[in-house]
Amino acid sequence: MTDTDGGAQRIVLLLSGPNLNLLGAREPEIYGTGTLDEHVASARLAAEAHDLLLEHLQSNHEGDLVEAVHAARDRCAAIVVNPGALTHYAWSLHDALAAFDGPVVELHLSNPASREAWRHASVVAPVATATIAGLGGHGYPVAVSAVARMLA
Ligand code: DQA
Repeated sequence: MTDTDGGAQRIVLLLSGPNLNLLGAREPEIYGTGTLDEHVASARLAAEAHDLLLEHLQSNHEGDLVEAVHAARDRCAAIVVNPGALTHYAWSLHDALAAFDGPVVELHLSNPASREAWRHASVVAPVATATIAGLGGHGYPVAVSAVARMLA
């Protein structure tokens, strides 16, 4: 609860897809040396600065992420999602996000458009309000600040 309006704090759901639990150790020349915990912490700081509450889930399983999006309906104000490789083929995640009413920000550490051809397509982009890519870990607080502005 906030101490200003007496209402419930709005929740931003941050979702992390497959292999992002390995950040810090995984291909640091591409994804940097920051860990997922560090990125979540900086996203949380940005959320708190905007009086938002950040929840985070990482899963290596597509269905877990789909169910998290379902559970966010009518409960969360916005979703920030780095779907990992699911970005490129997970139509079930596309459909789940399409059924979510609030803003959705697609987030990538790297810039998939400048990498291998198979990374150029995103099935999440058509149901995203915005995409942030290529900023490394800085993209996490940027995504949350963008969401805060969309909700304002
Ligand atoms: C990624 C980009 C994807 O292509 C890749 O499969 C990932 C990470 C990124 O954050 O840059 O796992 O989403």
